[in-house]
Amino acid sequence: MLDRLEQDGFAAVCSDGAAGMLALSDKSIKLVYGSPPYPNAERDYGVWRAHEYIEKMTPFIDAAVRGLRDDGFIVINVKANREKATSKVSSKRSLIVEKLAILMEEQWGLSCVDIEIWVKENPAPTGLRAACQDAYEQNLWFSKAPKWTIDLDAIRRPYESHSVKTYGEYEYKPRTNGNTYVRKNKTIEPHPIGALPKNVISGGVSARIGDHQATQPLYLPEKYIKATTEKGDLVVDPWMGTGTTGVAALLLDRRFIGFDVVQSYVDEAEQTLRKVGANRQVTLDV
Ligand SMILES: C[S@@+](CC[C@H](N)C(=O)[O-])C[C@H]1O[C@@H](n2cnc3c(N)ncnc32)[C@H](O)[C@@H]1O
Repeated sequence: MLDRLEQDGFAAVCSDGAAGMLALSDKSIKLVYGSPPYPNAERDYGVWRAHEYIEKMTPFIDAAVRGLRDDGFIVINVKANREKATSKVSSKRSLIVEKLAILMEEQWGLSCVDIEIWVKENPAPTGLRAACQDAYEQNLWFSKAPKWTIDLDAIRRPYESHSVKTYGEYEYKPRTNGNTYVRKNKTIEPHPIGALPKNVISGGVSARIGDHQATQPLYLPEKYIKATTEKGDLVVDPWMGTGTTGVAALLLDRRFIGFDVVQSYVDEAEQTLRKVGANRQVTLDV
């Protein structure tokens, strides 16, 4: 694995992701980014039920915390699927993701940067009538250190036209009750490289057609890689699937190691990453 990383700048490995991370040096990873099997989702690669979810995730968080540098981050993209309805109970929304987030702070001592929301503009219809159409996922974003540095400039976004118009026309004034960020009358100049990023990401689900049932769009890992890592840093995806995180990492000149237990996904990721990373020469420090 490490010789492939040294030679190509990436390695796609068929292994349990927690065991894979444990095989890396302590404190060598800058970002663990990945999308585990979702609670209650019945997929080709199995189902992790909500009642066993914390037990399933525990070795991954243990290994990630050990593998992360002191200035490292972990981002978990996940969605809680509903419990099955019966003749007596409706299909309840599982709260296991919220429980996992709380445990990441209380049990593993991580600090919550944010729980960001990915709004899916074209969600797959579920046909369920127990609640509204399911159209978002959560990105649990945690820092290993209680004081962190993230590069917000790297993920600025274009201003919305109505904001620019308001800034041009409007003078912000302190509130009379004193509860205000504005201390004196002022106008706002738009920042030359864009507005501060939002904690909501909007976009379509992946348009890639393949055998994998949960390929994610590139813009998800891209945001967190840009915000938390620098060129040459090591990004690890313990649930690699088709290698989307790796593609984003290599395109941004980061090094990447991904793990998955299904050989055909690893083969697909390897092929894709080889194309993206062709001719890369990256030095190794893990
Ligand atoms: C939600 S998918 C990830 C999809 C990926 N982000 C992509 O864009 O293709 C979850 C993946 O976790 C993998 N997986 C399940 N158990 C695993 C384990 N113990 N270790 C590593 N990967 C595992 C599955 O095979 C599946 O590919």
